[in-house]
Amino acid sequence: MVKIAILGFGTVGSGVAEVIEENADSIARRAANEIGVKYILKRKQLPDSPFADKIIHDFSIIEKDPEIQVMVECIGGLDAAYDYTKRCLMAGKSVVTSNKELVATKGHELIAIAKEKNVNYLFEASVGGGIPIIRPITQCLAANEIDEIYGILNGTTNYILTKMIQFGASFEQALKQARDNGFAEKDPTDDIEGHDSCRKICILSALCFGRHVYPHQVPTRGISGVTRSDVEYARHLGYKIKLLGRALRTGKDTITAYVAPHLINKTSLLSNVDGVMNGIVVHGNAIGEAIFYGAGAGKLPTASAVVADVIDAVKHFKARKYLDWEDSVPGYVTDSDELPSRWYVRTGASLEEIGRAFGNVKFISYPEADPGEYAFATREMTGHQLKSLINGMEVRSVFRILD
Ligand code: HSE
Repeated sequence: MVKIAILGFGTVGSGVAEVIEENADSIARRAANEIGVKYILKRKQLPDSPFADKIIHDFSIIEKDPEIQVMVECIGGLDAAYDYTKRCLMAGKSVVTSNKELVATKGHELIAIAKEKNVNYLFEASVGGGIPIIRPITQCLAANEIDEIYGILNGTTNYILTKMIQFGASFEQALKQARDNGFAEKDPTDDIEGHDSCRKICILSALCFGRHVYPHQVPTRGISGVTRSDVEYARHLGYKIKLLGRALRTGKDTITAYVAPHLINKTSLLSNVDGVMNGIVVHGNAIGEAIFYGAGAGKLPTASAVVADVIDAVKHFKARKYLDWEDSVPGYVTDSDELPSRWYVRTGASLEEIGRAFGNVKFISYPEADPGEYAFATREMTGHQLKSLINGMEVRSVFRILD
């Protein structure tokens, strides 16, 4: 039997232990080995848990135990997770994680250590929860030159926007439900302000384009500025508001990436990705467009991806999985404001001001709209051009339109 250790026993860690126990027979068949949990690292005791006898508090027991060949890191965040991951890899143990913050921030360094020690650092669950996306990009789509990847990468914000769009729910009610269901991050600001989506697009970008993209290089806006009136204007234009992470190739060795709310056409597949679901679109020069859809957050969907990585690690003790990228270089990430699109603008400016700046635009209205404001869709222009046109105007919302 292969013995593993789980670090952290919150939503994901406990889901991993449950799936390993529940699906023991099929997991053993697929891994060609039985897999059992030997240790669970947790600060507190859990006397009522069926896993109580596995709880330990000292990480060095795991680090020094030669029987542990795979460690599952579900602590989240950077500090302890980074330290323990590095120490396990250095000790020649494979590491599996759902920790997107760690992969987005230190992935290049940790993969390099794994390579040196001939072990695996696997993170299928870090993007898209239970959706297979890391392996499809690195294996099934390996024949393609990928030029763009974008999608709904955060279940919590998609859940909130869906409740606002479908039921007129308030932001606070919807957030509470997402937290009660275990979708949200420890600090839901990371979801709401787009940081979680930012980390995920960094990872996807590294896999698609071959270089590390650090979160601070990615302009990021979340959904805290999206109002009920934006949702209604979008609906009357035939669009839905969704938070997207997007990365595109802009040159031979340059890319751009950003996270922001978008108006997306109601006829597009992505516009029907609702609730906690995630949807990711990949453009490749051989496949054309492929879309990946499924549960983007939650205990068992995430555990499903983590345990699949554990099985893969067990099957590849003597081989490294191809999962690799170079570090970033100066100038690699270009300005996302150079990227053209149409834009949705909601403003308190007068008709004259709007006409002077934009010429003819497509105004949007609905019966209960605030009579003191206008909303319209622009022609295609870059972010820089838009900023110069709205300079000095009282602007309430600006989002890209994706057709
Ligand atoms: N908080 C994240 C989300 C969890 O809502 O998508 C899954 O990464």
